[in-house]
Amino acid sequence: MCKLQDFIPADLSINNVRDYLIGLNKKVILLDGTQKQYIYFDNAASTPTFSFIRDIVNEMLEWYSGVHRGAGIKSLVATKAYDDSREIVAKFVNANLEKNVVIYTKNTTEAINKVANRLNLTKDDIVICSLMDHHSNDLPWRKHATLIHSNINEDGTLDLNDLEEKIKRYQNKLKLVAITGAANVTGLINPIHQIAELVHSYKAKILVDAAQLIPHRKIDIKSDDDPQHIDFLVFSAHKMYAPFGTGVLIGPRETFEVGDPDYVGGGTIDLVSENEVFWTHLPDKEEAGTPNLIGAVSLAGAIKMLEKIGMDNVAKHEMELTEYAYNRMNELDSIEFFGPNVFQNYDNKLGVLTFNVKGMYHSLVAAILCYEGGIGVRNGCFCAHPYVIKLLKLSDEDRKKIKNQILSGYRAKIPGAVRASFGIYNTREEVDDFVNVLKMIINKEYKGIYQQNVKDGNFYPENFTIDYKKYFSLT
Ligand code: ALA
Repeated sequence: MCKLQDFIPADLSINNVRDYLIGLNKKVILLDGTQKQYIYFDNAASTPTFSFIRDIVNEMLEWYSGVHRGAGIKSLVATKAYDDSREIVAKFVNANLEKNVVIYTKNTTEAINKVANRLNLTKDDIVICSLMDHHSNDLPWRKHATLIHSNINEDGTLDLNDLEEKIKRYQNKLKLVAITGAANVTGLINPIHQIAELVHSYKAKILVDAAQLIPHRKIDIKSDDDPQHIDFLVFSAHKMYAPFGTGVLIGPRETFEVGDPDYVGGGTIDLVSENEVFWTHLPDKEEAGTPNLIGAVSLAGAIKMLEKIGMDNVAKHEMELTEYAYNRMNELDSIEFFGPNVFQNYDNKLGVLTFNVKGMYHSLVAAILCYEGGIGVRNGCFCAHPYVIKLLKLSDEDRKKIKNQILSGYRAKIPGAVRASFGIYNTREEVDDFVNVLKMIINKEYKGIYQQNVKDGNFYPENFTIDYKKYFSLT
């Protein structure tokens, strides 16, 4: 087999997708010594891998060689695969490669940092992000420009009136609105094209952090002359069932054609003399060093897989599952959800349910789910502190107290929540199991005695250690 398309199973669909993912049958040893098939509800962090991507990678490794660097056949094969992958990525979001460029990075965070580095921003320039944005779509802007946060509503949705008011207020200095496509904490989806139109009417540009959105919904960045066009789009393969270290930045060629690349070195130049440097063409200019061929090839494979399943089918499955999970969890009267849970259409929320069990610390709930339920979730503040603080409605006094505690190394009272996030392969049976474990937790029927480590805030069961050698260990 030698064509990407040949690796995609002919019968692959949303109904049998579980058969084509790696590691879903893994069993873990619980606190009582029994074994249970692991349930993974942390897809907003990273997803498992498609088995045929492993096959593609295995085949690619047979041909692995220097990309853009060798004269041999293997190098030419590797280079063609790497370059072809960009076209597959561009097509997936309808990006026109005459006007735009697909630049590979390590992940979404690096992609956003690259835009922040390359926009020639100064502290006189305004960038607006929102209070629901991940730190990765906040801190790079703080570093390079003056960052204004647009507010959120009481329920955690984006306050579009506040955004518009701030765009208007800062229009003279506004360079960019950087907004998440969907919040990693609540799964709430933002109207990115409506925001794009607004931003463009004030002659600024928009960056959409699509790390959360792109594995779950079809994204069309729209034609460059459409007022609803997305100028910069960033996302990561590790949330798209292809975790081989590739991130994507799509943006206007003109932004990257001017100036020096942020990283310089091999592959970025046409000519170097002792005194002169001439940068090469895009995208090579922006990808210093040997490129991640395996990452690019596996991302292309993941895109073909998502296309074969159909993004509409992905959205439908995940929304139905999330509604089911929400209704089942809602039967338990001790669950407090973050953000609205509306399932009437697919435009407002991803498969993310973030909650607290009344009267219980989030990291204790997560620990019991882990050690007694064999269920993997994420808890804490999800790299979105400003959003979580708003959602929890913490007073200034509480915030100050917690800040002082954290800075002194005491992390026992960090506010937060528990997040269950679903992928294309999760099932109602898994949700039922999860709800049963939650019930057991709420009824205080768990067996372990848990102690908190105040340095990391996590709870650990007494008399239990994980034997990593039974799973996977490098030592
Ligand atoms: N940003 C990822 C998450 O929400 C890692 O978990």
